[in-house]
Formats: sequence, C-alpha cells, structure tokens
Amino acid sequence: TAALATTTALLAQPTLAETVGFAQIGSESGWRAAETTVTKQEAEKRGIDLKFADAQQKQENQIKAVKGFIAQGVDAILLAPVVATGWDEVLKEAQEAEIPVVLLDRMVDSDKSLYLTAVGSDLVHEGNVAGEWLVKDVGDKPCNVVELQGTTGSSPAIDRKKGFEDAIAGHDNIKIIRSQTGDFTRTKGKEVMESFLKAEDGGKNICALYAHNDDMAVGAIQAIKEAGLKPGTDIKVVSIDGVPDIFTAMAAGEANATVELTPNMAGPAFDALAAYWKDKTEPPKFIQTESKLFTQADDPQAVYETKKDLGY
Ligand code: AHR
Repeated sequence: TAALATTTALLAQPTLAETVGFAQIGSESGWRAAETTVTKQEAEKRGIDLKFADAQQKQENQIKAVKGFIAQGVDAILLAPVVATGWDEVLKEAQEAEIPVVLLDRMVDSDKSLYLTAVGSDLVHEGNVAGEWLVKDVGDKPCNVVELQGTTGSSPAIDRKKGFEDAIAGHDNIKIIRSQTGDFTRTKGKEVMESFLKAEDGGKNICALYAHNDDMAVGAIQAIKEAGLKPGTDIKVVSIDGVPDIFTAMAAGEANATVELTPNMAGPAFDALAAYWKDKTEPPKFIQTESKLFTQADDPQAVYETKKDLGY
C-alpha cells in the first residue's frame, strides 16, 4: 500500500515537459536582472524546466555553459550572447546535437542557419530614436555630446552607436566629442563620465550625454551632480532600456529621455519553441520587440509605478 501511495503521489505531480538551458550574460544592469527574472517566470508558467547559467560577462563561461547544456541533452538553449563574434563552433555543436538555439536580445555574426530564431529589438533603430530625440530637442543650437558605449564588441554597443550617428548625421551643430565604453554598468558609467567632465572644463563644454543603457546614465547623472552641474538641464541625458530608476531620474528632471526595451524576450522565444517542438514549425529568423520613446512629458512617475515591482 505504501509503495502504491508513493507511485500515485509521483504520478500526481505535474511532469515538466521540456528542459531549456539559459546561458545568460550576467547581471550588469537592471534591465539584465529583469530579463533573468522574467525568463524564469515565463518558464515556470509554461511548466518548462529552466537550467540557468550566469556567465559573469565572460564569453568563455557562456560557451562552457552551452556545451554543458548540449551534454545534458536539453530540448533547447536560450543564449544572450555577450559579444557578437566567436560563436560558430559551439552553435555548430548544438546543431549537430539537434538542439535548437534561440538568441535573446543580442545578435551574433554567425550564419543564420546556426540558430532557430533571435528575439530582440532593432538595436540600430533604438540608437536612431535616441539621436532623433536629441536633434529635435537642441534644434539649431550647438551641442557637444559625450557617449557612453555598451560592452565592446556586443551588438547593442555597435548598433546603438551606429543608429545615433546616423540620426545626427547632417546636423553639423551636434558633435560627439568623446566616446568610451562604460560596459553597461552603473559604476563604470559614473567613472567614465567623471573623466569626460574633467577633460571638458568640468563639464561646461558638454551639452548632452548619450548612454547606450540607463544604468550607465544613472551612474553618469551622479557624476554630473558631484561636478556641481544639473543633469537634465546643464547636460541633457538620453539613454536606452526604460528601467524604473531612469523614470525616477526623469521625474526629478535629471534625465530627459529613454528608449524602452522589454525584458520579456523569453515569452516570444518559448512560443516559437513550442511551435517548433510540436511540428518543427520554423519561426521567422528575427522576432522583433517594440522600442518606445519616453520623455519627461510622459508622466515618468506613473511609468515608474508600473515598473517598480517587475524584477528590475
Ligand atoms: O542587450 C541588451 C542590453 O544589455 C541592455 O540595454 C543593457 O542594459 C544590457 O546589459
């Protein structure tokens, strides 16, 4: 009877249908932390057994994690690639093992046949939206811009730079006078902004900051304040992600605009995988998420309220 009860109890437990490995970059930003939280929630909702690996910003760790998932025979792999190059070999290994790989939020330089699909925003467009906002905001006034780039070699750093440059091209009053990586982190954003301020007459020569993500902008805002200037007024601040802290800064008048990136890349990824697992339905190679501009006119405090409990 005892054995029968155990068997019945085991049978009564919901069986997890599929196992998915998630090779995450790390937790460099609020946005990244939210993506991790949302991915875990989306997996749980669908009864997917999610194996999570945090690569601490290192590509070699991500490659090891992917190889580990292949060895375990998972049903799919989610990969948020820290940089764009160097993925061919491990993607080929996954393909040979017939394990579909879905890219999340960043792109790779590898052949498209090596992954099932990529879920993300149009990263060039995001930079473009930020640049167009600045062009409109400054009008004909001269404006020296400093730029905080994301992780060197990552697709958002490359594409967001390009998109912004395209938007300001032909507007000779707007010039990027300094550009350096802040590695998508708050600490580095602050540190690099301090060096920009020092080099540019305590910041008097700077009209605007363009940061490839909000976390670097938040760090830079602190540096601007410590230099005795008013962020949002003396130095305009435009960035990307739409994390709660940037809306707090916008509500305080210390940041001007952000381009929102949804942290829910996993929802569309799991939907595509479900169709693929069912009958090998091939999704489009790129599943694009929305990019929306928010400015101080969009009631930043109210937007903050909608985001504050979402795992950022
Ligand atoms: O790839 C998306 C970027 O990576 C986000 O904008 C940034 O915050 C993150 O670290």
